[in-house]
Amino acid sequence: MDSIVVKGGTPLKGQIQIAGAKNAALALMPAALLSEEPLTLTNTPRLSDIRTMTELLQSLGVEVTALKGGNVQTLSAHDATETTADYDIVRKMRASNLVLGPLLARHHKAVVSLPGGCAIGARPMDLHVTALEAMGATIELKDGYLHAEAKGGLKGAEVEFWIASVGATENTMMAATLAKGTTVIKNAAREPEIVDLAQCLRSMGAQIDGEGTSTITIDGVDRLGAATHRVVTDRIELGTYMLAPVFAGGEVECLGGRIDLLGAFVEKLHAAGVDVTETPNGLKVARRNGRANAVDVTTEVFPGFPTDLQAQMMAMLCTAEGTSVLEEKIFENRFMHAPELVRMGADIEVHGGTATVHGVDRLKGAPVMATDLRASVSLILAGLAAEGETVVNRVYHLDRGYEHVEEKLGAVGAQIERVPA
Ligand code: UD1
Repeated sequence: MDSIVVKGGTPLKGQIQIAGAKNAALALMPAALLSEEPLTLTNTPRLSDIRTMTELLQSLGVEVTALKGGNVQTLSAHDATETTADYDIVRKMRASNLVLGPLLARHHKAVVSLPGGCAIGARPMDLHVTALEAMGATIELKDGYLHAEAKGGLKGAEVEFWIASVGATENTMMAATLAKGTTVIKNAAREPEIVDLAQCLRSMGAQIDGEGTSTITIDGVDRLGAATHRVVTDRIELGTYMLAPVFAGGEVECLGGRIDLLGAFVEKLHAAGVDVTETPNGLKVARRNGRANAVDVTTEVFPGFPTDLQAQMMAMLCTAEGTSVLEEKIFENRFMHAPELVRMGADIEVHGGTATVHGVDRLKGAPVMATDLRASVSLILAGLAAEGETVVNRVYHLDRGYEHVEEKLGAVGAQIERVPA
């Protein structure tokens, strides 16, 4: 497996183009299953998770044509009749479970392996299952697969989630577009990726209202048609690169960046003493003189502080002035980066879902290991601030979510290179 070598201490200067959102694309691509006509997605990021979803959709009979190296994809489910999502593909990525709702809606049956993904907690599927059952499906777990059937098709229903789950909201929304009658999702997730999916489904002919609020209403239609949709900016890639000059010093403009995608995160950056300014093309970030200030962070559903930026923020707070407390409220096992940061000289105590970070003057380069997607990139960022050389081993997870990280950071002056295995 490749590793990434970072030499710290060089200030950054320049622009970084932020890609389309992985998490939006992973929900938009399965939406193609809902229609006999093609769905074209532009601004699709070039990532291994996207290739995994492509492989999964192809195994279901979807024809996928890619242009511009995968940046534009046309997905046609005209002849897609297969309804089994196989374990060998699904185990690679949890978002594979997003084919369940569309398959059930269009074919009235689906057999989907229980997923894998990052090792950041239990991540069950009970909310997805309960919602689809309320819509008339019968679902059984057999041999590691969910066997779902909706004889005569799905029916609209009122669904209230006890956790505002992103994936369950997406699966239910997609399933409801072709159900008979009206579906109301209460305590729906409000993330920008949900809004993006609703906009795409609407372009395909779906009747949806309320996305971006906690109640989404979907009136089922008989069929969906063709559409072209641009994938929203990746707010997690954006937040990650916004942090880069805070670690390394200097100033970086993130092209395509928008404050409304990351309100709570930007507030914390201001409190930490980081300047964020809007420009005509995105957001410019620079660290004010000296060390950042300690800040307390609690991860929450949108519009709160995103769990997917918690590892990167923790890495930043390792060298802040003072003590910061980070509370992880979304996933129970998401501090695997902490012991790796400690190997680089950080002072962190973890107790359950709370991490206390006592800021130190400097981090020191070390060989470290990436254990999940966001943990991997937090170690690269830490390497930008550290004295000497940091070798981030096992970057398999990084390539799932970050397009050419070494090229993007290298272009703004970071000393970073990929060493093939
Ligand atoms: C999505 C994102 C992921 C992000 C997460 C939270 C994608 C592809 N991935 O994941 O990057 O970290 O949102 O913002 O979009 N839960 C249940 N039962 C369920 C479903 C979820 O208990 O049926 C729990 C999970 O264990 C977790 C919480 O709900 O504790 C939130 O999970 P959810 O919002 O569903 O995350 P994902 O959609 O998997």
